[in-house]
Amino acid sequence: MSNKDLLEKDKLPSHVAIIMDGNGRWARKRGNSRIFGHKNGVKAVREVTEAAAELGIGYLTLYAFSTENWNRPKTEVDALMSLLVKTISDETKTLMENNVQLNVIGFKDSLPQRVRKNLEDCIEKTSSNTGLVLNLALSYSSRWEIIDAVKKIADDVSNKKISVDDINADFFSNYLTTSGMPDPELMIRTSGETRISNFLLWQLAYAELYFCDVLWPDFRKENFYEALINYQNRERRFGMISEQLKK
Ligand code: FPP
Repeated sequence: MSNKDLLEKDKLPSHVAIIMDGNGRWARKRGNSRIFGHKNGVKAVREVTEAAAELGIGYLTLYAFSTENWNRPKTEVDALMSLLVKTISDETKTLMENNVQLNVIGFKDSLPQRVRKNLEDCIEKTSSNTGLVLNLALSYSSRWEIIDAVKKIADDVSNKKISVDDINADFFSNYLTTSGMPDPELMIRTSGETRISNFLLWQLAYAELYFCDVLWPDFRKENFYEALINYQNRERRFGMISEQLKK
């Protein structure tokens, strides 16, 4: 029996975020280059996107490239950018067939021109799709995003567009790259690392965190269902006590 059959369809998260980790270790175990690991990570991206779309999950955010990743060796950065362009080109047709809308969060201006163009084309083509929103975090870091939001708010205050009293948590969320999206209820990180690594720090405030040992290139639909079952078995209290939730 598949773990999919054990899922309660009416208790699925509306937004799942994933830190795809372990490509390098997966490749090293096979005596191969880190890039080989990233290439094999694409299969897992495809699987998890398909699974999320099939289940009717609203948003899937994948941490594909952090601002810190720019510090990796140039050959690896270049290979990741090329892989991204190739994957987006190859998969646009499948995204269309599955009604998936592509979106990118991150400091887009820092991406090479050809990557930006390729992403913009796919975002445009998939913009009227109404199913899953596949949110790629590229050149993204949460501290960058929060500072960027603070600067925009400061600007709007000094231009008298808003007043300081307007600022509250919901208002602040609208200045983030995820504006208009629900916060992720579940965050998955693969490869056994148990850190958040500057990913959606604001948005993950109440998320359930799920860490598994599987290296990203080995992550399959069944692993995704397992994470969702684990999530469904948790009690989300938002600071309250169990008895209050039963009312
Ligand atoms: C982390 O593993 C993975 C990345 C930094 C890149 C993720 C990229 C992909 C899965 C491929 C392309 C993605 C898309 C969306 C088309 P790591 O290199 O940090 O692994 P390690 O911790 O084992 O060294």
